[in-house]
Amino acid sequence: RHVQILPLLCAVCRLTLAFPTQTPSAYGTSTFYHYLLLLVKIFMNDVQSLQVNIPQSDPVFAPLGSSISIPCFVSLSSTPTTSSSSPVEPRVKWTVVSGGVETQILVARGQRVKVNEAYIDRAALLNHTSSPDDLSLWLGDLRSSDSGHYRCEVQQGLEDASDLVQLKVKGVVFHYRDALGRYAFSFHQAQRACEAIGAEIATADQLLAAYYDGYEQCDAGWLADQSVRYPIQVPREGCYGDMDGQPGVRNYGTMDPDDLFDVYCYVEQIDGEVFHDPVPQQLSFDEAQAYCRAAGAELATTAQLYLAWSEGLDRCSPGWLSDGSVRYPIITPRERCGGPQTGVKTLYRFSNQTGFPEPSSLHDVYCLKGEFSVLCLKNDCALNRI
Ligand SMILES: *[C@@H]1O[C@H](CO)[C@@H](O)[C@H](O)[C@H]1NC(C)=O
Ligand SMILES: *[C@@H]1O[C@H](CO)[C@@H](O)[C@H](O)[C@H]1NC(C)=O
Repeated sequence: RHVQILPLLCAVCRLTLAFPTQTPSAYGTSTFYHYLLLLVKIFMNDVQSLQVNIPQSDPVFAPLGSSISIPCFVSLSSTPTTSSSSPVEPRVKWTVVSGGVETQILVARGQRVKVNEAYIDRAALLNHTSSPDDLSLWLGDLRSSDSGHYRCEVQQGLEDASDLVQLKVKGVVFHYRDALGRYAFSFHQAQRACEAIGAEIATADQLLAAYYDGYEQCDAGWLADQSVRYPIQVPREGCYGDMDGQPGVRNYGTMDPDDLFDVYCYVEQIDGEVFHDPVPQQLSFDEAQAYCRAAGAELATTAQLYLAWSEGLDRCSPGWLSDGSVRYPIITPRERCGGPQTGVKTLYRFSNQTGFPEPSSLHDVYCLKGEFSVLCLKNDCALNRI
């Protein structure tokens, strides 16, 4: 920077010599400084060479429980060796804005990196040590709550530059129980049950990510690694598992595949629109199937309803799904819509939370329209595309 300013000053000198003001004694000196200041300003702003770039299309999608590296590169304004005085080390900062709240993930200066307490062990600068202009952020154990706008920022001296990218964490983990009763799936039946409703059996990482997003379910369920676990936020009688009074995911370990439990399923993507009739017309299961077919659609699966819920669908109306269960998605909890918890609510036949409703009982219906994947409660389609 200092080296570059000198030729600039000489240029200004030559300029003033070439076009001497007519009355140098009167205002020549102040005009000279005026131009000099102007040139310095132009130099500072327009010749700024600090640039930060996130070379990634926007938004970035990543599955629940996975890890991601968000690339970010900086081109620094001066190389340290050409400057006579010792250069200011650039300050690197990653922040995320999620739900209107800005959180600092980490800051780094030179080799020193300080990671926010909340991101310990799951945020790091990947290659910064070996290549200082690589500011790529590694983020592990992704949760839905990690969705947001990520800013990669560099400050050096008076210069400041940043770039922004949106991250959307997709996918939802949900508890699934056989129509016949609690703890009715062997390991292989559990895998098939998830597939039959348009999902797959969840992994332990996915269940852990869901737990960190607030998921709570006091029912032991199979996971992909043949272990049996369940997520508990509020430890209580009957839900201690192997953990006594601590919140966390209870783990029975690897179990005999013939043992019987519920299952945790995972869904990330569906093909189709789930759609509600303004007329409060209630249907049996068979009528529900016919209703969707007549509308050029089909009954939505349980997985599709969970995914629509995870992406914002809120309908206080229990409706038939393809497996013969009756459920409804609640984002904003209200007393008459299943109590104080958000989530997909299930209508069981018995008060001990088992059994799907009688096929002759009358309910609303959730249909799925193909091609653009829209979930509808009868004719009331979700605005969010799934
Ligand atoms: C980090 O550096 C290694 C080796 O130079 C390279 O293979 C890898 O792609 C880099 N990672 C990122 C995220 O740039
Ligand atoms: C739940 O209730 C039904 C009907 O009363 C009964 O058949 C079933 O065994 C009960 N299941 C459990 C797990 O208590």
